[in-house]
Amino acid sequence: MAVVALIGAQWGDEGKGHLVDLLANHARLVVRYGGGNNAGHTVVNHLGTFKLHLVPSGIFDNATVNVIGPGVVINPEVLIQELKELQERGIDISKLFVSDRAHVIMPYHVMLDQLQEDARGEDKIGTTGRGIGPAYADKMSRSGIRMGDLLHEETLLNRLRGVLEEKNRILTRLYNARPLSLHDTYLRYLDLGHQLAEQITNVHPIIYRAIDKDIPILLEGAQGVLLDVDHGTYPYVTSSPPGAAGACQGSGIAPTMLNSVIGVFKAYTTRVGEGPFPTELPEGAEADILRQIGTAWAEVGTTTGRLRRVGWFDAVMARYAVQINGIDTLAITKLDVLDTMPKIKICVGYRLHDAELEHPPATIAVLDQVEPIYEELPGWMSPTSSARRFQDLPERAQTYVARLCQLVGARLGIVSIGPEREQTILVSEIF
Ligand code: GDP
Ligand code: IMO
Ligand code: MG
Repeated sequence: MAVVALIGAQWGDEGKGHLVDLLANHARLVVRYGGGNNAGHTVVNHLGTFKLHLVPSGIFDNATVNVIGPGVVINPEVLIQELKELQERGIDISKLFVSDRAHVIMPYHVMLDQLQEDARGEDKIGTTGRGIGPAYADKMSRSGIRMGDLLHEETLLNRLRGVLEEKNRILTRLYNARPLSLHDTYLRYLDLGHQLAEQITNVHPIIYRAIDKDIPILLEGAQGVLLDVDHGTYPYVTSSPPGAAGACQGSGIAPTMLNSVIGVFKAYTTRVGEGPFPTELPEGAEADILRQIGTAWAEVGTTTGRLRRVGWFDAVMARYAVQINGIDTLAITKLDVLDTMPKIKICVGYRLHDAELEHPPATIAVLDQVEPIYEELPGWMSPTSSARRFQDLPERAQTYVARLCQLVGARLGIVSIGPEREQTILVSEIF
């Protein structure tokens, strides 16, 4: 199979970076297709621990070409800093290419993201404050600036002149913020463009050469399907399509070229930021559950350092994610986190008043009212982190994973039982 998309299938942070790092060795081209530095992808391998925000997680494999695709929104300063840190740690970045079609996150995007969140007050979305929403909004309203524009003085000046006046009016009159200087912003972004000139290019020929030669391609997702702007828990979503359709759109690879879609799920569920979460374990729940949250379940956002909300695996949401993305292969991560749980619950349906729902409702006010219907399985109460084959897992862990696959309706591809590259069990062939 030549083109494989690996997508987050919950609310993000499923362990995508960890798996892309492993699979990069099988692929020869890794394309990050969406989101921006709202993402935080953790990679733990023989070279150390890395937290990537923009650079694809295939960067540690010397034989693999890495591309930041047209669908990504890029804060050039963040990218430059990330590349610098990687180089300082001896990582070769010579095979990294950045699409000239990718949009730039400008300083007013970051300012507006934060000002809009403040203005929302109690209704805040809990964004990462990185300017993602405003950058995608400008792209759609055709007032964005693209990475390629940073390499053309005249284009950059013209584009900036066109948008900055309006942005400054919004910043000063609506939010009482300070305006940005056209001159300074122009010079600063021209310089950032110069610094990235070696990387910025038309990535279409790179991708199409790979497709022509049947070179295995891995499309690296950011965020997760339930944060999808169309299909997620709107408005508590991000501003891009993180799923399989977004993988095609954001990379420039046609849907008919996609051979497989791997959906990455944690063996339970987490969410950072606001929004509905039917299976969330409330703080102050039973003492033993709370103890687990305080220790083994402690989850901290890779990008913002916020504590992640945690809860049981939600098969209603998972099935939905599988259906709207054509997920054919499951990657179940963080199974080891459940090692000490005496009982494990899976949400198999939603109850709303007297009705049972098979599909997640769109309206937040309704979703907030559903009650999860749980199935309870016995825990395996033994360590799994050193397992290297599926058969090595405790029988009850195997049963749990098999039940998840059965409930969501896709085959098992990968089980992950620790953050390190080796702590991964490849159950079926990916490429
Ligand atoms: P991503 O955004 O999907 O790449 O995921 P993050 O990196 O934000 O969050 C996943 C976290 O879980 C990181 O700290 C990983 O190192 C860690 N991790 C990934 N897979 C596993 C696993 O199977 N077990 C454990 N215990 N940790 C894992
Ligand atoms: P990775 O790729 C988890 C969430 C934010 C917020 C919502 C909107 O590491 O899985 P945004 O800044 O995108 O406008 O925020 O989306 N969010 C993520 N949550 N992992 C991510 O990325 C996320 N990217 C955005 O917390 O709720
Ligand atoms: Mg993350």
